[in-house]
Amino acid sequence: MQYLHSAVHSIEMLLNTFSTSPNHACLRGQLASSWSLCYLTDTLLVTQKRLYSTSFKQRGSSTCKASNKSSFRWAKDATSPMMVPGRILPDDKKPMLSDVSHCHIPILDMDEPIDRVIDKVAKACEEYGFFQIINHKVPQELCQNMLTAVTDLFHLPPEDKALLFSDDQAKDVRICHHYRKDQASQEKIALWSEVFKHSWHPIDDFTHTLPRNPPQYRKVIALYAKNIGGLMTLLLSLMSQGLGLEPNCLNDKIRGNPTYRVQANYYPPCPNPELTLGLGVHTDRDALTVILTTPEVQGLQVLKDEKWIAVDPVPGALIVNLGDQLQVLSNGQYKSVLHRAITNKTQNRVSLAMFYGPGKDTLIGPIEHLVNEKHPPRYRSYRFSEFLDEFRRQEGNRRRVKEAFELHMNG
Ligand code: OGA
Ligand code: NI
Repeated sequence: MQYLHSAVHSIEMLLNTFSTSPNHACLRGQLASSWSLCYLTDTLLVTQKRLYSTSFKQRGSSTCKASNKSSFRWAKDATSPMMVPGRILPDDKKPMLSDVSHCHIPILDMDEPIDRVIDKVAKACEEYGFFQIINHKVPQELCQNMLTAVTDLFHLPPEDKALLFSDDQAKDVRICHHYRKDQASQEKIALWSEVFKHSWHPIDDFTHTLPRNPPQYRKVIALYAKNIGGLMTLLLSLMSQGLGLEPNCLNDKIRGNPTYRVQANYYPPCPNPELTLGLGVHTDRDALTVILTTPEVQGLQVLKDEKWIAVDPVPGALIVNLGDQLQVLSNGQYKSVLHRAITNKTQNRVSLAMFYGPGKDTLIGPIEHLVNEKHPPRYRSYRFSEFLDEFRRQEGNRRRVKEAFELHMNG
Protein backbone atom coordinates (compact mmCIF):
# COMPACT_ATOMS: atom_id res chain seq x y z
CA MET A 1 0.00 0.00 0.00
CA GLN A 2 1.24 3.41 -0.88
CA TYR A 3 1.55 5.78 2.05
CA LEU A 4 1.10 9.47 2.09
CA HIS A 5 4.54 10.52 3.23
CA SER A 6 6.09 9.05 0.11
CA ALA A 7 3.80 11.37 -1.86
CA VAL A 8 5.12 14.29 0.15
CA HIS A 9 8.62 13.77 -1.29
CA SER A 10 7.37 14.17 -4.82
CA ILE A 11 6.08 17.58 -3.83
CA GLU A 12 9.60 18.87 -3.67
CA MET A 13 9.61 18.78 -7.45
CA LEU A 14 6.44 20.81 -7.52
CA LEU A 15 7.95 23.26 -5.09
CA ASN A 16 10.54 24.07 -7.70
CA THR A 17 7.74 25.09 -10.00
CA PHE A 18 6.49 27.41 -7.28
CA SER A 19 9.77 29.22 -6.99
CA THR A 20 10.67 29.47 -10.66
CA SER A 21 7.48 30.60 -12.34
CA PRO A 22 8.27 33.00 -15.20
CA ASN A 23 5.17 35.07 -14.55
CA HIS A 24 6.31 37.10 -11.58
CA ALA A 25 5.76 40.57 -12.90
CA CYS A 26 2.49 39.62 -14.46
CA LEU A 27 1.32 38.04 -11.23
CA ARG A 28 2.05 41.17 -9.27
CA GLY A 29 0.02 43.19 -11.76
CA GLN A 30 -2.89 40.84 -11.32
CA LEU A 31 -2.70 40.86 -7.58
CA ALA A 32 -2.67 44.61 -7.57
CA SER A 33 -6.19 44.68 -8.89
CA SER A 34 -7.64 41.81 -6.93
CA TRP A 35 -7.63 42.71 -3.29
CA SER A 36 -10.69 42.43 -1.14
CA LEU A 37 -12.16 45.58 0.28
CA CYS A 38 -12.27 46.56 3.89
CA TYR A 39 -12.13 50.10 5.17
CA LEU A 40 -13.33 52.38 7.88
CA THR A 41 -15.41 55.41 7.14
CA ASP A 42 -13.96 58.84 7.66
CA THR A 43 -16.54 59.46 10.32
CA LEU A 44 -15.41 56.45 12.26
CA LEU A 45 -11.79 57.47 11.95
CA VAL A 46 -12.53 60.92 13.28
CA THR A 47 -14.61 59.62 16.18
CA GLN A 48 -12.02 57.10 17.14
CA LYS A 49 -9.17 59.53 16.75
CA ARG A 50 -10.83 61.66 19.37
CA LEU A 51 -11.47 58.73 21.66
CA TYR A 52 -7.99 57.33 21.44
CA SER A 53 -5.97 60.51 21.47
CA THR A 54 -6.14 60.57 25.28
CA SER A 55 -4.49 57.22 25.66
CA PHE A 56 -1.83 58.11 23.09
CA LYS A 57 -0.91 61.16 25.10
CA GLN A 58 -0.93 59.33 28.40
CA ARG A 59 1.60 56.90 27.10
CA GLY A 60 3.72 59.70 25.72
CA SER A 61 4.08 58.00 22.37
CA SER A 62 4.20 59.82 19.06
CA THR A 63 0.58 60.34 18.18
CA CYS A 64 0.08 61.95 14.84
CA LYS A 65 0.88 59.34 12.22
CA ALA A 66 -0.81 56.46 13.96
CA SER A 67 -3.93 58.34 14.92
CA ASN A 68 -4.32 59.88 11.48
CA LYS A 69 -3.85 56.79 9.41
CA SER A 70 -4.95 54.01 11.66
CA SER A 71 -7.10 54.88 14.59
CA PHE A 72 -6.50 51.51 16.17
CA ARG A 73 -3.81 51.07 18.71
CA TRP A 74 -4.47 47.58 19.93
CA ALA A 75 -1.16 45.93 19.82
CA LYS A 76 0.22 45.29 23.28
CA ASP A 77 -2.33 47.69 24.77
CA ALA A 78 -3.06 46.88 28.38
CA THR A 79 -6.64 47.96 27.88
CA SER A 80 -8.93 46.95 25.05
CA PRO A 81 -10.35 49.51 22.70
CA MET A 82 -13.77 50.78 23.67
CA MET A 83 -16.98 49.43 22.29
CA VAL A 84 -17.93 52.65 20.49
CA PRO A 85 -21.17 52.87 18.47
CA GLY A 86 -19.27 52.60 15.18
CA ARG A 87 -18.22 49.12 16.22
CA ILE A 88 -21.54 47.63 17.28
CA LEU A 89 -23.13 45.43 14.65
CA PRO A 90 -26.82 45.78 13.87
CA ASP A 91 -28.97 43.12 15.56
CA ASP A 92 -29.29 40.91 12.48
CA LYS A 93 -25.49 40.66 12.21
CA LYS A 94 -24.71 40.03 15.89
CA PRO A 95 -23.18 36.60 16.46
CA MET A 96 -25.80 35.09 18.87
CA LEU A 97 -23.13 33.09 20.62
CA SER A 98 -25.51 30.95 22.70
CA ASP A 99 -26.71 29.29 19.48
CA VAL A 100 -23.36 27.72 18.58
CA SER A 101 -23.47 23.93 18.07
CA HIS A 102 -21.08 21.47 19.71
CA CYS A 103 -20.47 19.37 16.63
CA HIS A 104 -16.85 19.16 15.33
CA ILE A 105 -15.24 19.55 11.95
CA PRO A 106 -13.31 16.43 10.81
CA ILE A 107 -9.70 15.90 11.90
CA LEU A 108 -7.62 14.02 9.33
CA ASP A 109 -4.37 12.23 10.02
CA MET A 110 -2.21 12.58 6.90
CA ASP A 111 -0.13 9.57 8.00
CA GLU A 112 -3.05 7.22 7.39
CA PRO A 113 -3.00 5.09 4.22
CA ILE A 114 -3.62 7.30 1.20
CA ASP A 115 -6.90 5.63 0.16
CA ARG A 116 -8.36 6.32 3.58
CA VAL A 117 -7.12 9.91 3.49
CA ILE A 118 -8.70 10.46 0.06
CA ASP A 119 -12.05 9.12 1.26
CA LYS A 120 -11.99 11.28 4.36
CA VAL A 121 -10.91 14.39 2.45
CA ALA A 122 -13.75 13.87 -0.04
CA LYS A 123 -16.32 13.39 2.71
CA ALA A 124 -15.11 16.45 4.61
CA CYS A 125 -15.18 18.56 1.42
CA GLU A 126 -18.72 17.41 0.65
CA GLU A 127 -20.18 17.75 4.12
CA TYR A 128 -18.25 20.55 5.81
CA GLY A 129 -16.01 22.36 3.34
CA PHE A 130 -13.59 22.49 6.29
CA PHE A 131 -11.27 20.07 8.04
CA GLN A 132 -8.17 20.04 10.22
CA ILE A 133 -5.06 18.07 9.34
CA ILE A 134 -2.46 16.58 11.64
CA ASN A 135 0.88 15.03 10.60
CA HIS A 136 0.92 17.43 7.66
CA LYS A 137 4.75 17.62 7.58
CA VAL A 138 4.94 21.39 7.93
CA PRO A 139 7.44 21.55 10.81
CA GLN A 140 5.90 22.54 14.13
CA GLU A 141 8.75 24.88 14.89
CA LEU A 142 8.15 26.72 11.63
CA CYS A 143 4.44 27.06 12.43
CA GLN A 144 5.30 28.42 15.86
CA ASN A 145 7.83 30.86 14.39
CA MET A 146 5.26 31.98 11.85
CA LEU A 147 2.68 32.72 14.54
CA THR A 148 5.29 34.61 16.55
CA ALA A 149 6.30 36.66 13.51
CA VAL A 150 2.65 37.53 12.80
CA THR A 151 2.06 38.49 16.44
CA ASP A 152 5.22 40.60 16.47
CA LEU A 153 4.06 42.38 13.35
CA PHE A 154 0.78 43.39 14.94
CA HIS A 155 2.66 44.37 18.09
CA LEU A 156 4.87 46.84 16.24
CA PRO A 157 4.66 50.41 17.52
CA PRO A 158 1.61 52.19 16.08
CA GLU A 159 3.75 54.59 14.09
CA ASP A 160 5.40 51.67 12.28
CA LYS A 161 2.06 50.04 11.60
CA ALA A 162 0.65 53.33 10.36
CA LEU A 163 3.18 53.24 7.53
CA LEU A 164 1.66 49.97 6.38
CA PHE A 165 -1.93 51.05 6.84
CA SER A 166 -3.71 51.67 3.56
CA ASP A 167 -7.20 51.79 2.11
CA ASP A 168 -5.82 51.37 -1.38
CA GLN A 169 -6.85 47.96 -2.67
CA ALA A 170 -4.29 48.18 -5.43
CA LYS A 171 -1.54 48.07 -2.81
CA ASP A 172 -0.02 44.64 -2.59
CA VAL A 173 1.23 44.90 0.99
CA ARG A 174 -0.89 46.65 3.58
CA ILE A 175 -2.63 46.64 6.93
CA CYS A 176 -6.33 47.41 6.91
CA HIS A 177 -9.59 46.79 8.74
CA HIS A 178 -12.65 44.89 7.71
CA TYR A 179 -16.14 46.26 8.10
CA ARG A 180 -19.77 45.47 7.48
CA LYS A 181 -22.38 47.84 6.15
CA ASP A 182 -25.53 48.51 8.13
CA GLN A 183 -28.25 47.91 5.54
CA ALA A 184 -30.59 50.49 7.04
CA SER A 185 -28.18 53.39 7.43
CA GLN A 186 -25.50 52.21 4.94
CA GLU A 187 -22.97 53.10 7.65
CA LYS A 188 -19.80 51.07 7.87
CA ILE A 189 -19.31 49.14 11.09
CA ALA A 190 -15.67 48.31 11.80
CA LEU A 191 -14.99 44.73 12.83
CA TRP A 192 -12.84 43.74 15.80
CA SER A 193 -9.58 42.96 14.05
CA GLU A 194 -6.58 44.23 12.19
CA VAL A 195 -5.57 42.54 8.99
CA PHE A 196 -2.22 42.38 7.19
CA LYS A 197 -2.35 41.36 3.53
CA HIS A 198 0.24 40.57 0.91
CA SER A 199 0.98 38.07 -1.82
CA TRP A 200 3.09 34.98 -1.24
CA HIS A 201 4.38 34.13 -4.64
CA PRO A 202 6.86 33.90 -6.20
CA ILE A 203 8.77 33.03 -3.07
CA ASP A 204 12.01 34.72 -4.10
CA ASP A 205 10.27 37.79 -5.38
CA PHE A 206 7.70 38.75 -2.81
CA THR A 207 9.72 39.00 0.37
CA HIS A 208 11.56 42.19 -0.56
CA THR A 209 8.18 43.96 -0.74
CA LEU A 210 7.46 43.07 2.89
CA PRO A 211 8.32 45.18 5.94
CA ARG A 212 11.78 44.73 7.46
CA ASN A 213 10.15 44.72 10.84
CA PRO A 214 9.67 42.41 12.65
CA PRO A 215 13.11 41.32 11.49
CA GLN A 216 12.31 37.62 11.08
CA TYR A 217 9.04 38.07 9.15
CA ARG A 218 10.48 37.89 5.62
CA LYS A 219 12.53 34.79 6.23
CA VAL A 220 9.87 32.90 8.12
CA ILE A 221 7.04 33.62 5.66
CA ALA A 222 9.25 32.61 2.71
CA LEU A 223 9.92 29.22 4.25
CA TYR A 224 6.37 28.79 5.46
CA ALA A 225 4.99 29.69 2.02
CA LYS A 226 7.15 27.04 0.35
CA ASN A 227 5.82 24.43 2.74
CA ILE A 228 2.21 25.51 2.28
CA GLY A 229 2.61 25.59 -1.51
CA GLY A 230 3.64 21.94 -1.44
CA LEU A 231 0.88 21.03 0.97
CA MET A 232 -1.74 22.71 -1.21
CA THR A 233 -0.59 20.78 -4.27
CA LEU A 234 -0.96 17.58 -2.29
CA LEU A 235 -4.39 18.55 -0.95
CA LEU A 236 -5.66 19.43 -4.43
CA SER A 237 -4.41 16.10 -5.69
CA LEU A 238 -6.27 14.26 -2.91
CA MET A 239 -9.38 16.33 -3.58
CA SER A 240 -9.20 15.51 -7.31
CA GLN A 241 -8.97 11.81 -6.57
CA GLY A 242 -11.85 12.13 -4.14
CA LEU A 243 -13.96 13.36 -7.07
CA GLY A 244 -12.86 10.38 -9.18
CA LEU A 245 -10.61 12.61 -11.32
CA GLU A 246 -6.96 12.32 -12.31
CA PRO A 247 -4.69 13.42 -9.43
CA ASN A 248 -3.51 16.52 -11.33
CA CYS A 249 -6.91 17.66 -12.50
CA LEU A 250 -7.66 20.41 -9.95
CA ASN A 251 -4.05 21.55 -9.87
CA ASP A 252 -4.11 21.88 -13.66
CA LYS A 253 -7.33 23.88 -13.62
CA ILE A 254 -5.77 26.49 -11.33
CA ARG A 255 -2.10 26.34 -12.15
CA GLY A 256 -1.87 28.79 -15.08
CA ASN A 257 -0.60 31.99 -13.47
CA PRO A 258 -2.45 31.55 -10.17
CA THR A 259 -3.16 34.00 -7.35
CA TYR A 260 -1.46 33.65 -4.00
CA ARG A 261 -2.68 35.86 -1.17
CA VAL A 262 -1.93 35.92 2.55
CA GLN A 263 -4.15 37.40 5.18
CA ALA A 264 -2.83 37.64 8.72
CA ASN A 265 -5.60 38.41 11.20
CA TYR A 266 -5.17 39.90 14.66
CA TYR A 267 -8.11 39.73 17.06
CA PRO A 268 -7.60 41.65 20.30
CA PRO A 269 -9.70 40.91 23.39
CA CYS A 270 -13.14 42.43 23.17
CA PRO A 271 -15.21 43.72 26.10
CA ASN A 272 -18.43 42.32 24.62
CA PRO A 273 -18.09 39.57 21.99
CA GLU A 274 -21.87 39.50 21.52
CA LEU A 275 -21.83 42.90 19.84
CA THR A 276 -19.21 42.40 17.16
CA LEU A 277 -17.24 39.94 15.03
CA GLY A 278 -13.53 39.61 14.35
CA LEU A 279 -14.24 38.66 10.76
CA GLY A 280 -17.67 38.87 9.16
CA VAL A 281 -19.60 35.92 7.76
CA HIS A 282 -17.99 35.05 4.42
CA THR A 283 -16.83 32.33 2.09
CA ASP A 284 -13.30 32.46 0.71
CA ARG A 285 -13.28 33.61 -2.89
CA ASP A 286 -10.24 31.65 -4.16
CA ALA A 287 -9.87 27.88 -4.47
CA LEU A 288 -8.13 26.65 -1.34
CA THR A 289 -7.20 28.11 2.06
CA VAL A 290 -4.85 26.81 4.72
CA ILE A 291 -5.13 28.49 8.12
CA LEU A 292 -2.65 28.51 10.97
CA THR A 293 -4.02 29.84 14.23
CA THR A 294 -3.19 30.44 17.88
CA PRO A 295 -3.59 26.94 19.32
CA GLU A 296 -5.15 27.82 22.65
CA VAL A 297 -7.88 30.23 21.60
CA GLN A 298 -11.18 29.44 19.88
CA GLY A 299 -12.50 31.94 17.38
CA LEU A 300 -13.23 30.41 14.00
CA GLN A 301 -16.78 29.19 13.43
CA VAL A 302 -18.20 27.33 10.44
CA LEU A 303 -21.81 27.11 9.28
CA LYS A 304 -23.18 23.58 8.96
CA ASP A 305 -26.86 22.82 8.48
CA GLU A 306 -27.74 26.41 9.37
CA LYS A 307 -25.90 26.13 12.71
CA TRP A 308 -22.58 27.66 13.70
CA ILE A 309 -19.92 25.15 14.75
CA ALA A 310 -16.93 26.34 16.79
CA VAL A 311 -13.63 25.01 15.46
CA ASP A 312 -11.72 23.66 18.46
CA PRO A 313 -8.05 24.32 17.78
CA VAL A 314 -6.04 21.10 17.79
CA PRO A 315 -2.38 21.70 18.75
CA GLY A 316 -0.13 21.21 15.72
CA ALA A 317 -3.00 21.04 13.25
CA LEU A 318 -3.62 23.20 10.21
CA ILE A 319 -7.13 24.13 9.16
CA VAL A 320 -8.06 23.58 5.53
CA ASN A 321 -11.07 25.04 3.78
CA LEU A 322 -12.39 25.22 0.27
CA GLY A 323 -12.93 28.48 -1.54
CA ASP A 324 -15.69 29.30 -4.01
CA GLN A 325 -13.70 28.18 -7.07
CA LEU A 326 -13.52 24.59 -5.84
CA GLN A 327 -17.26 24.53 -5.29
CA VAL A 328 -17.79 25.66 -8.88
CA LEU A 329 -15.12 23.35 -10.38
CA SER A 330 -16.61 20.37 -8.53
CA ASN A 331 -20.08 21.34 -9.81
CA GLY A 332 -21.28 21.83 -6.25
CA GLN A 333 -20.08 18.44 -4.97
CA TYR A 334 -17.50 20.10 -2.71
CA LYS A 335 -18.60 23.01 -0.56
CA SER A 336 -17.21 26.45 0.07
CA VAL A 337 -19.05 27.24 3.29
CA LEU A 338 -19.78 30.35 5.28
CA HIS A 339 -17.50 31.00 8.22
CA ARG A 340 -16.69 33.84 10.62
CA ALA A 341 -14.30 34.71 13.44
CA ILE A 342 -15.71 35.68 16.81
CA THR A 343 -13.85 37.57 19.51
CA ASN A 344 -13.22 36.71 23.15
CA LYS A 345 -12.95 38.74 26.32
CA THR A 346 -9.49 37.92 27.55
CA GLN A 347 -7.01 36.75 24.95
CA ASN A 348 -5.41 37.95 21.75
CA ARG A 349 -5.80 35.58 18.86
CA VAL A 350 -3.87 35.58 15.60
CA SER A 351 -4.37 33.55 12.47
CA LEU A 352 -2.66 33.32 9.11
CA ALA A 353 -4.77 32.37 6.10
CA MET A 354 -2.90 31.39 2.93
CA PHE A 355 -5.13 31.57 -0.14
CA TYR A 356 -4.51 29.90 -3.47
CA GLY A 357 -6.67 30.60 -6.50
CA PRO A 358 -6.80 30.92 -10.26
CA GLY A 359 -5.36 33.79 -12.27
CA LYS A 360 -7.58 36.56 -13.62
CA ASP A 361 -7.81 35.09 -17.11
CA THR A 362 -8.37 31.49 -16.03
CA LEU A 363 -11.62 29.97 -17.16
CA ILE A 364 -13.56 28.43 -14.27
CA GLY A 365 -16.61 26.23 -14.58
CA PRO A 366 -17.82 22.74 -13.61
CA ILE A 367 -15.25 20.12 -14.69
CA GLU A 368 -16.58 18.24 -17.73
CA HIS A 369 -16.23 14.81 -16.12
CA LEU A 370 -18.52 15.85 -13.30
CA VAL A 371 -21.31 16.98 -15.58
CA ASN A 372 -23.79 14.50 -17.05
CA GLU A 373 -27.49 13.97 -17.43
CA LYS A 374 -27.92 13.18 -13.76
CA HIS A 375 -25.67 16.06 -12.76
CA PRO A 376 -26.35 19.03 -14.99
CA PRO A 377 -24.00 22.01 -14.68
CA ARG A 378 -24.91 24.14 -11.69
CA TYR A 379 -22.76 27.10 -12.69
CA ARG A 380 -21.95 28.85 -15.89
CA SER A 381 -18.30 29.21 -16.85
CA TYR A 382 -16.55 32.52 -16.33
CA ARG A 383 -13.12 34.06 -16.29
CA PHE A 384 -11.92 34.54 -12.72
CA SER A 385 -11.70 38.31 -13.35
CA GLU A 386 -15.49 38.31 -13.81
CA PHE A 387 -15.87 36.64 -10.43
CA LEU A 388 -13.61 39.26 -8.85
CA ASP A 389 -15.67 42.07 -10.39
CA GLU A 390 -18.79 40.60 -8.82
CA PHE A 391 -16.91 40.16 -5.53
CA ARG A 392 -16.02 43.85 -5.48
CA ARG A 393 -19.53 44.87 -6.41
CA GLN A 394 -20.83 43.17 -3.27
CA GLU A 395 -18.38 44.88 -0.96
CA GLY A 396 -19.39 45.52 2.64
CA ASN A 397 -22.33 43.12 2.58
CA ARG A 398 -22.57 39.42 3.19
CA ARG A 399 -21.47 38.40 -0.25
CA ARG A 400 -23.27 35.86 -2.43
CA VAL A 401 -20.79 35.86 -5.28
CA LYS A 402 -20.88 32.31 -6.62
CA GLU A 403 -24.67 32.44 -6.50
CA ALA A 404 -24.49 35.08 -9.23
CA PHE A 405 -23.02 32.42 -11.55
CA GLU A 406 -25.59 29.70 -10.76
CA LEU A 407 -27.57 28.14 -13.58
CA HIS A 408 -31.20 27.57 -12.78
CA MET A 409 -32.69 24.45 -14.29
CA ASN A 410 -36.20 24.45 -15.59
CA GLY A 411 -38.64 22.35 -13.60
C1 OGA B 1 -9.94 34.31 6.59
C2 OGA B 1 -10.50 33.48 7.69
C3 OGA B 1 -10.33 32.63 9.92
C4 OGA B 1 -9.61 32.87 11.20
O1 OGA B 1 -8.92 34.96 6.82
O2 OGA B 1 -10.53 34.27 5.49
O3 OGA B 1 -11.55 32.91 7.50
O4 OGA B 1 -9.71 32.00 12.06
N1 OGA B 1 -9.85 33.42 8.85
O5 OGA B 1 -9.00 33.90 11.36
NI1 NI C 1 -12.09 32.91 5.38
